[in-house]
Formats: sequence, structure tokens, C-alpha cells
Amino acid sequence: MKLPHKSSSYFQLLMISISLAINYCAISVSASKSTDHDLSYFESAALAKPSFKSKNQSSSPAGEKKPAAAAAAAFGADCGTWSAACSDEIMRIAKKPENVKWIKSVRRRIHENPELAFEEHETSRLIRRELNELDISYRFPLAKTGIRAVVGTGAPPFVAVRADMDALPIQEAVEWEHKSKNPGKMHACGHDAHVAMLLGAARILKAREHHLKGTVILVFQPAEEAGNGAKRMMEDGALENVEAIFAMHISHHLPTGVIGSRSGPLLAGCGFFKAVITTGGNGLHRNIHNSGDPLLAASASVISLQGIVSRESNPLDSQVVSVTFLKSGDDNLDTQPTSVEFGGTLRAFSNTSFHHILRRIEEVIIAQAKVYRCSATVDFFKSSDSMYPPMVNDDRMYEHLRKTAIDLVGPTNFRVVQPVMGAEDFSFYSEVVPATFFYIGIKNETLGSVHSAHSPHFMIDENALPVGAATHAAVAERYLHDRDISINGILHRQE
Ligand SMILES: *[C@@H]1O[C@H](CO)[C@@H](O)[C@H](O)[C@H]1NC(C)=O
Ligand SMILES: *[C@@H]1O[C@H](CO)[C@@H](O)[C@H](O)[C@H]1NC(C)=O
Ligand SMILES: *[C@@H]1O[C@H](CO)[C@@H](O)[C@H](O)[C@H]1NC(C)=O
Ligand SMILES: [Zn+2]
Ligand SMILES: [Zn+2]
Repeated sequence: MKLPHKSSSYFQLLMISISLAINYCAISVSASKSTDHDLSYFESAALAKPSFKSKNQSSSPAGEKKPAAAAAAAFGADCGTWSAACSDEIMRIAKKPENVKWIKSVRRRIHENPELAFEEHETSRLIRRELNELDISYRFPLAKTGIRAVVGTGAPPFVAVRADMDALPIQEAVEWEHKSKNPGKMHACGHDAHVAMLLGAARILKAREHHLKGTVILVFQPAEEAGNGAKRMMEDGALENVEAIFAMHISHHLPTGVIGSRSGPLLAGCGFFKAVITTGGNGLHRNIHNSGDPLLAASASVISLQGIVSRESNPLDSQVVSVTFLKSGDDNLDTQPTSVEFGGTLRAFSNTSFHHILRRIEEVIIAQAKVYRCSATVDFFKSSDSMYPPMVNDDRMYEHLRKTAIDLVGPTNFRVVQPVMGAEDFSFYSEVVPATFFYIGIKNETLGSVHSAHSPHFMIDENALPVGAATHAAVAERYLHDRDISINGILHRQE
């Protein structure tokens, strides 16, 4: 995730596609007419011999072979109808001591060896090794280091769950046993935890593969922080057949294990600009009265840019324009520079506001340059994917997440959160399929995991890891379950 105010070092990177073509495409009925969804999908044994098992009994150990169970479901057993027992069983697997030990060790190994955008070679290798161990098949490489793994029937419907893998160019300041071994690099945004939690979900889903009424795609994505990882993954087929996608991010605003999200706008659209103001005249000018002064023009521009948000925008429609760098000449004290560069970032929650800001930044800088007899150019890095659309949660996918999380962690451990000005390249997926982005808390004051992401002091409470793994698994398994019911119409959805 990218934070609201950024340093200029992030400039070269980033993305485009402002087109907020958020596709709220309804799950199409025609897609559901596939033979994978007729009654033959269910094991005939299950149809012939409905089970009368209680919910209690359905909490059987992982791996125990059970009938796929549509008919049995009518009686609340075997997760044919989703019940509290299904959530409990998922959480029980996640919290088995050996699984907790394993998920923490995965996270720690990745934390010790942080790799930057598109360089996640060891991280990717570790993930593939664990997938091999779990006997889960995958496609590799996508977007250089990315992986698309598959659990389930291999047939539609397909639901995807995504984790990002990259670290940040930050020197870790936390002294602990598993501190980053790569100088100047750190998992300061929790992507190490995201990978561990998605692998944790893979383990749970594999243990429950016989319950899955479709296919779960596990998307391990490079370069969220500083590149176009999401777009590259999609270009390489990450979303093939996928009809819905979910992603989770750690949050230091929420206590350990608490899940939070909201429907509608959650994260801002994000862009960057860089302006160059040059003197209208030629060469060096010792006297300011002889030519335009780009330094003065730049200063006036920086001041005027503040008015776009404060004087032209609806205060209820949050926006940011922030100048984050300014550079001119050398340290020669008696020579006026011939050109000045400056730039910054912009954020908005709607396409309309986003485009308004883009247009006004350019107008303001060019006009101010003119006032001081200079000329200006403004670059928005449109050709280098430097803009992210806002992250808008799909209402139905949000509702699915909310319902699933409440069943899994209890109503007191689910929070509706406020939108924030950070940006996420997960929004690119949300333009293509209905999507929901949500948080998992890692805040624990006793432990000291209270620092924001991108801080060199950032740390997490690892007790969140099994909960996150269970949440991913439950969101995916239950999506396929509820989808199956809506397709076949043979059971009533149980809320
Ligand atoms: C966003 O706004 C721009 C400029 O007004 C427009 O060209 C574009 O089509 C819009 N995109 C969406 C998805 O509404
Ligand atoms: C299931 O029922 C048995 C016997 O009634 C009980 O001992 C056990 O704790 C129950 N398990 C769950 C998960 O409720
Ligand atoms: C916070 O961390 C401490 C130390 O590990 C632990 O004992 C405690 O249970 C944690 N609190 C929560 C709310 O998870
Ligand atoms: Zn981040
Ligand atoms: Zn992040």
C-alpha cells in the first residue's frame, strides 16, 4: 500500500489507467450454465443418502474424506449448507499448533530476506517450494516472479485471493531475531505476512479441497509498492476465468486479528506529477530583471497549487495535492538558475475529482510560469503506468466478506473502517472483476506493534497470521459454496 504523502523517490515508478471502469458486472447467469454446475457435479452417494449429522460432528479433523454433500447440506452437515461449524473447522485447522508454527516460520523467512519490486526471486522460490510440499499446482512465472496457484475442482466458478510479495527500500530499525538481513530493504508494509497468510489459506483449502465447489486461484503478485505488478499479473493471465477477487492488508489501526473493511470507496486513486519551469530567455542571466525567474515562478506555483483542494473542491469529497520535491540550479549564490523542477502526488476517491485535479495542476503551473515570464511543462507519467484508480469495494463482495468474517471471528472482531488516502494497485483488479479489499489488525500495544506501515519501526503481532489464513480460506471456500447455491438453486442460502 502506498501512503498519502510520498517522497520523490517513488517517482519513476507507478501506473496509469485512471479509467475507473470499475466493472460491477453481475455474476452472469450464462456463465453458470456450464456442465460443471449441473447436479452431476455432486457425488451421487451424497444425493442418495442424506446425512443427519449434527453441526458438532461436522467439525471433523482435516483431511477426513466427506461426501461433497449437496443434499446432506439441507440438514446442516458437512458444509453443504454453510454453518458455524464450517467456520470453526477452518479456524481450528488454522490454529493447530503445527500450522501456527509453520506460518510464523514462513513469514520470518521472508521477513529476513526482503526483496524489492520484480526482484522477489527467493520469495517466489520459497512460495513454490511450499506449494510443492502441499501438492498444489501452479503457473509460474507471471509478471517475472508472480505465481498463480490452483486449489479445488479445476472447474468454474473461479474465485481469486491475492497477496503481494515485495518489500520496501527502508532500513529496518527493529532489533529482533528475524531482522532483515538485506541492508536497506525491509518488509515494512507486511507483504511478508500477506504471503504467509495466503500460503496458510492454501494449506487449509488443500485440507478441505473435497468441500470446494469450484476453484480457488491463489495470486502471488510482485511489485505492489513500486511498479505495475497487478497490471502485469493480469496481462499474464492471473485473472483467467476468475469472477471475483479478494485481498487482505495488515493494519496497525486494528487490534490483532480484527477484520475491517467497508463497501464503496476504500482507498484513493493516486497519481504523480513533475513540472519543469524554464526561463523564457537564453543562457545564464545574472540580473533577474533581464529574464524570467523560474525559482519565483516555481514558488508561486507551489503556493497556488494549494488552492486546488482548499478552494475548488467539495470538502466532503476528500482530495490531496501535495508538492514533495523542488530542485533548482547548484549552490552558486550569484547565478539565477535557468530551470526549476518540482513535483508531487495527487489523490482522490472519484474519477471526476481525479481528472479535475489533473487538469488544474497543469493549468495552474503553466499560468504561474507565464506570470513570471517563464514557460512550463507538466508530466503525469501517463505512459509509464504512474496512476492508480481509486479502490472501490464491490457491494456484494463486501457483504460476502462481512458475513464470512463475522461468522469466523465474531461480530465484535469485525469493524467498518473509514476510507483512507493511501493507494493500492489491487484497484486494477477491481476494474476487471468485482473485488473487495479488507484489513486484518496487527496492533498489540504490549508487543509494540503500533507503528504505521512504511515506518522502519514497523512490526506485526504474528498472532494475526492464523486468523488471516483462516479468513482468506473461508472467504474463498464460502464464496464457491454460496455461488453454487445461487447457480443450482437447490438449496436456500443460509445467512
Ligand atoms: C474518468 O474521467 C475521464 C475524464 O473526465 C473520462 O475520460 C473517463 O472516461 C472517466 N472514466 C470512467 C471510468 O468514468
Ligand atoms: C461435540 O459434542 C461432544 C459430545 O457432546 C463434545 O464433547 C464436544 O466438545 C463437541 N464439540 C464441539 C466442537 O462442539
Ligand atoms: C499481545 O501480545 C502479548 C505478548 O505476545 C500477548 O500476551 C497478548 O495476548 C497479545 N494481545 C492480543 C490482544 O493479542
Ligand atoms: Zn506499502
Ligand atoms: Zn502494502
